[in-house]
Amino acid sequence: MSLPDGPKGPKLWQMLQWIATPISFMRRCRKRYGDQFTVNLARALPPIVFFSDPKALQTILTSDESELFDAPGELNVMLQPLLGTQSLMALSGDPHRRMRQLLLPSFHGERMRSYGQLIQGIAEDVMGEWQTGQPFAVRKAMQKISLRVILRAVFGLNEGARYQELERLLGSLLDELSNPASVSALYFSVLRKDLGPITPWGRFVRSRQQIDRLVFDEIAERRAHPDDSRNDILTMLMSARDEAGDRLKEQELRDELMTMLVAGHETTATALAWALHWIHKSPPVRKQLIDELQSLEDPVDPGVLFRLPYLNAVCSETLRICPVGMLTFPRVTRSQVELMGLSLDPGTVVAGCIYLAHHREEVYPDPDAFRPERFLERRYSAYEYLPFGGGARRCIGMAFAQFEMKIVLSTVLLGVELAQFGSSSVRLVRRGLTSGPSPFRMVVKERRPRMFAPAAGSAIDRV
Ligand code: HEM
Repeated sequence: MSLPDGPKGPKLWQMLQWIATPISFMRRCRKRYGDQFTVNLARALPPIVFFSDPKALQTILTSDESELFDAPGELNVMLQPLLGTQSLMALSGDPHRRMRQLLLPSFHGERMRSYGQLIQGIAEDVMGEWQTGQPFAVRKAMQKISLRVILRAVFGLNEGARYQELERLLGSLLDELSNPASVSALYFSVLRKDLGPITPWGRFVRSRQQIDRLVFDEIAERRAHPDDSRNDILTMLMSARDEAGDRLKEQELRDELMTMLVAGHETTATALAWALHWIHKSPPVRKQLIDELQSLEDPVDPGVLFRLPYLNAVCSETLRICPVGMLTFPRVTRSQVELMGLSLDPGTVVAGCIYLAHHREEVYPDPDAFRPERFLERRYSAYEYLPFGGGARRCIGMAFAQFEMKIVLSTVLLGVELAQFGSSSVRLVRRGLTSGPSPFRMVVKERRPRMFAPAAGSAIDRV
């Protein structure tokens, strides 16, 4: 067995650093041990080898369903209390492939483009709540937009008591999970004790039960009154059949819906908050972006927006410099694997370190600078730039998230003039199992006259 060197401290100490200060922990490891290093996070978890060299990432992510590597969902145990054992993220092998096949059509081109006006309308509603001159919390505002978008896409719901309850409960459940005590409970089963409604885990369990009840009620109602004209993800999943002709069971539906709801809005909200931060920190970027957006003709086709070069570069650079997912999900060697001069035994757990891959000086000169132009000057390979991971577990919401980012950013930038508020610096910190900006606020300086007319018969009515 030849595992690369890594921090020597006790596992608990390594875990605490990984939870409290993941970025400086990874940067220190890289500086001290080089491109690949081994971390030991908990007694119950195997050592994990972090890789960030594009050659290593290419090998791992092009063969994670082969005799070399596997991408087992069992290693994502920390997600199970939230998403369930049938979640796509928790499944392995054939059940994982079957579930991906059932879910992927929900995120394909045409269907996704039909969400264009829906997203724009939701962004405008939320922007309407911002008072000129009053600071607002940026991430919270972006979360409000992305949660509404995903609830609408998943359930086709945007009003009624059940929708409002779901919006409220999901928002508070995920805020709860973003604090270090709750994250620790996801990693350490011993901390998952329900000691009553005022303890963090007790609150989590109660919120989850309430959410489950609402989700199961919605499924039961849809079963009782099927409506094939609906265009939402739940309708599609309920009518989907796998190769054996079987339908998804109730628990499978619940776990997949929960996975879409959680994975589908937390990450996008964070990416949007980062984008607004970087755009306003850099006046030339902001100017170039607004010029590009203002050059469009009314009404704007979401497809045109999706392909705008500078908007695309700004979104790409945002996800490079502050990747929301710091790591890919773990992969495991199935046989003896030679990689980067190491000989890894079968059963070795490895992870692609997205954050370090995105901060390699030789790939991204001056890696800590926000410079969207780099994405106009050259193309990066899928192993140099991988905010959505790759291989067998590549993010299924990739196109949806990019599309949503572009629509929301253009709607916000054309609708209001924002400015940073306060002088405290914005840092990259852990947020639950992902990373995000430390809380920051912005203020509306003025509202712009509406640039684009709302599309007639918008997709808001059609989804
Ligand atoms: C900016 C937004 C997002 C980022 C940065 C992001 C990032 C990621 C990353 C890094 C992975 C792991 C890939 C791997 O291990 O190779 C992943 C997986 C996943 N993402 Fe996303 N994601 C985003 C948005 C979304 C959205 C909008 C959805 C769904 C609506 C979604 C659903 C998923 C699912 C279901 C998986 C697991 C795939 C599997 O296990 O097969 N994500 N995402």
